[in-house]
Amino acid sequence: MLSVVVLISGSGSNLLALLKAAENPLYPVKVVAVGSDKDAPGLEHAELFEVDTFIVEPSRFQDKEQWAKTLLANVLHHQPDLVVLAGFMKILPESFVKAFEGKLINTHPSLLPDFKGAHAVRDALQAGAKKTGVTIHYVDAGVDTGPVIVQQELTINEGESESELHERIKVIERALLVETIEKLALAKSAQEGN
Ligand code: GAR
Repeated sequence: MLSVVVLISGSGSNLLALLKAAENPLYPVKVVAVGSDKDAPGLEHAELFEVDTFIVEPSRFQDKEQWAKTLLANVLHHQPDLVVLAGFMKILPESFVKAFEGKLINTHPSLLPDFKGAHAVRDALQAGAKKTGVTIHYVDAGVDTGPVIVQQELTINEGESESELHERIKVIERALLVETIEKLALAKSAQEGN
């Protein structure tokens, strides 16, 4: 069983998909805690599934390093095998990233390296892109630069709005995230000879 801490900042629809998948005893993943940088609406999903939650707000700390140290302590408390950034909109400093090297993944609504950053869907539309998609990748010290695990492409519809496109992206993103974390769990147990 792969134990996972999920970090979110928003509605948490990716988190919800993972929580629902993990209801199946055959799914080899357990969400042990959900953290956020704010009182995000998505934390309600965790509460509904009786999963521990924590909030570490940057504004309560002198600087980013202090914030990240407390966030790190909260994550480590749950001893996860994997940390999943699912719509977590704060950039994590190197100290945090280093603590989870190879155990920290992010899901991003574009085909990286195209359209990095917080407004990937808007940026793809503004650039007149014909295609976009989802990237799930390991997190390194850069912003949306870590090694890609998997990508899935989507054709942008003529005249589509940012919210319409993001919703269509999220439909494939949720399924891809659930499938990818399952694969990571199976790879880990194969490595351990279970
Ligand atoms: C997802 O589309 C995720 O890829 C994106 O935020 C959304 C969160 O949706 N993340 C980023 O843009 C990170 N740069 P959710 O809260 O419904 O899961």
